[in-house]
Amino acid sequence: MSLTERLNALAAELAAALQDVRDERTLEELRIAYLGRSGKITEIRRSIGKLPPQERPAAGKTINDAVVGLEEQLAAAERDLVRLRLEEDVERKVDVTLVNVPTSIGSFHPIRKTTEDACAYFEAHGFAVLLGPEVDTTRHNFDALNIPPEHPAREGFDSFYLRPDLLLRPHTSPMQIRAMEAYGPPIAIVVPGKCYRRDAVDARHLYQFNQIEGLMVGEGIHFGHLRGMLVGMCRELFGPNQQVRFRPSYFPFTEPSAEIDTTCPRCGGPSATALRADAQDDKVGTCSTCGGSGWIEIGGSGMVHPNVLRNVGYDPDEVSGWAFGCGIERLAMIRYGISDIREFIWNEPSFLEQLA
Ligand code: DAH
Repeated sequence: MSLTERLNALAAELAAALQDVRDERTLEELRIAYLGRSGKITEIRRSIGKLPPQERPAAGKTINDAVVGLEEQLAAAERDLVRLRLEEDVERKVDVTLVNVPTSIGSFHPIRKTTEDACAYFEAHGFAVLLGPEVDTTRHNFDALNIPPEHPAREGFDSFYLRPDLLLRPHTSPMQIRAMEAYGPPIAIVVPGKCYRRDAVDARHLYQFNQIEGLMVGEGIHFGHLRGMLVGMCRELFGPNQQVRFRPSYFPFTEPSAEIDTTCPRCGGPSATALRADAQDDKVGTCSTCGGSGWIEIGGSGMVHPNVLRNVGYDPDEVSGWAFGCGIERLAMIRYGISDIREFIWNEPSFLEQLA
């Protein structure tokens, strides 16, 4: 067989082999078998050593030309494989006759959304957002907050105890102590998070719920700052026309203390006249969200008690502060007009979709 005949036979042989190639690996094996270092072409190249010297250059060129042909065959086969893969993909994945199944995209849970929006408002005003431990000591939960062991308020916090001195926190207020001991004064923080109480579950109570705590302490901090921040938070969460009112109350860790009410965003609150006439606002409308008064309670607040400041080593003659605590479920119920707190844990898809 002449050199040309051998090369033609090799080309035909490769063409036949390529007919059956269905995957990249076989293709690569063929490339190695024909063009690889110890492949068929190398074998033929070696054989030209036996030719008379003057014939060798022409033989070399013949072989090189044949190699170009083989490479083209392999490249064509590779292109065919790519096309084959594409066709397979099209056949397998896109069945244009399939009926479109609508997919639903998740949304943030209303509790998370409300938490994040409230925190974002305070962050925008320079507050730091802190998280604290859900299991905390009686010192942080009570003693340092001016609730000594025999104090009746301790009973009011029906708590889950792990040890006599350790409990699932019934409020986020212990983080006031932790934060003041770790930073400041001055200090400006909000603390969102889970709280736990031994409450029977009904439309208004869960034994696990969320609060957001606020605390600002520094020189010359006064009640007006608290009012301003709470009005701003309510407008952020409920709408631009929200009003806030404070009702005198009692908490061991604040003096004076006040309960916080905001105008009902469902019915628009008491009329402007009623707002001006202060106490004349108790029988406005028949709104089911606020019970008709036009006001809804959202939490407790007050000026940080001097004893609490002393307990963390601050001097009440040097600094003053305010604090508040709001139930996030409560804020979300007002925001979305939800009448049963258990909706937040039932998590019916239809309920969540409605709020998305
Ligand atoms: N910790 C209180 C509770 O859970 C709420 C509260 C009231 C927080 C007054 C405060 C505050 O920071 O100043 O009932």
